[in-house]
Amino acid sequence: MSKPLEGIKIIDFTHVQAGPACTQLLAWFGADVIKVERPGSGDVTRSQLRDIPDVDALYFTMLNSNKRSLTLDTKKPEGKEVLTKLIKESDVLVENFGPGALDRMGFTWEHIRELNPGMIVASVKGFSDGHHYEDLKVYENVAQCAGGAASTTGFDDGPPTVSAAALGDSNTGMHLAIGILTALHARNKTGKGQKVAVSMQDSVLNLCRVKLRDQQRLDRIGYLEEYPQYPHGKFSDVVPRGGNAGGGGQPGWVLKCKGWETDPNAYIYFTIQGHAWAPICKAIGKEEWTNDPAYMTAQARQDKIFDIFAVIEDWLKDKTKFEAVDILRKFDIPCAPVMSMKEIANDPSLRASGTITEVDHKARGKYLTVGSPIKFSETTVEITGSPLLGEHTDEVLASLGYSAQQIAALHAAQAV
Ligand code: COA
Repeated sequence: MSKPLEGIKIIDFTHVQAGPACTQLLAWFGADVIKVERPGSGDVTRSQLRDIPDVDALYFTMLNSNKRSLTLDTKKPEGKEVLTKLIKESDVLVENFGPGALDRMGFTWEHIRELNPGMIVASVKGFSDGHHYEDLKVYENVAQCAGGAASTTGFDDGPPTVSAAALGDSNTGMHLAIGILTALHARNKTGKGQKVAVSMQDSVLNLCRVKLRDQQRLDRIGYLEEYPQYPHGKFSDVVPRGGNAGGGGQPGWVLKCKGWETDPNAYIYFTIQGHAWAPICKAIGKEEWTNDPAYMTAQARQDKIFDIFAVIEDWLKDKTKFEAVDILRKFDIPCAPVMSMKEIANDPSLRASGTITEVDHKARGKYLTVGSPIKFSETTVEITGSPLLGEHTDEVLASLGYSAQQIAALHAAQAV
């Protein structure tokens, strides 16, 4: 079967992480993604945090698989001419430059729409159009701070903390991909393209919506029962940092297992799901708690929840995190080992599903990457290596009707 997005041509004018994560996803699903890069240097991530001298960094290779690379100086007339031709025959242009950069290049939304009324122009910016910070350039952690993630992450006695998960970058890219697919679907009905804009602040906030829920609950009743500050600590008028507390109706915490003194990840996440109280008591050998009025309801347990966690930790002290989960799963208790990146890289299930996949790269050889987290019954997602800088320049130019002589002249004009 052909790939679902086969036939969709995407000008990938993205860099760093937010934009590339979006276009990589669309490339996996079959779109022809042409990454437009500055001659000589290309996407800055090619050379950032390199582990092998002069070879594209993993930062780049893990965000740009399945794409083609076209080097083009889009500030020069020759480069603008090529981009104009590409726009006329493409479906989508994705960009995540600093505010106003595309306009300054001469490719305003109005101009692009004139060139190709069916074109979808998709942009990532730090803040949305018209926002009082719309002129700011933004990276991951800036967005996590602006979107409410940092103020609500970490422990009560520590500073605001950013997450290791790319809530600002890759998450925004995923939002943009949904926007692009929606606009393509709309275009199938109307024939018209449109502008799709996603801000990093908005995308972070979209994942922090339970914290806005909590702000409103706090405003109304003055406390948040699932937070570790309840009932013994104090609440101010803003949502506090909740440590490792569960964000929903069931208390949970990260608990130590055998070996935690030397292994930084010898922990499990344990959830006390209300209706699983009896199995929990059975699993940890505290059957006397099952029908004890001091323990048998969620409300009764609330003020001693950390004492309960301490008892569970005592039960865990002679079990590794994997042994503990193997016992607890039999009792239907929601839990998981805290996985290190090393364990994830070698996890047989993640390998078998293709979520961790080994890819070949022309210069680096084999490397691991995260494959598609989206699985289809009819589509197989194959991950290929990322392109070398300008690897497909000649082939793309030839497909736009450039002769060998014209291609050579363009190379000369763009020489750095
Ligand atoms: N040919 C010629 N010029 C090019 C080019 C090409 N192929 N590709 C980019 N450029 C130019 C741009 O036109 C811009 O020029 P100008 O500012 O003189 O008009 C210049 O390169 C710099 O682009 P910019 O995107 O502003 O780069 P930066 O390194 O200063 O900033 C970010 C990087 C990520 C902070 C910024 O791009 C940004 O805020 N992007 C939006 C938010 C975002 O996506 N951030 C997350 C990234 S993971």
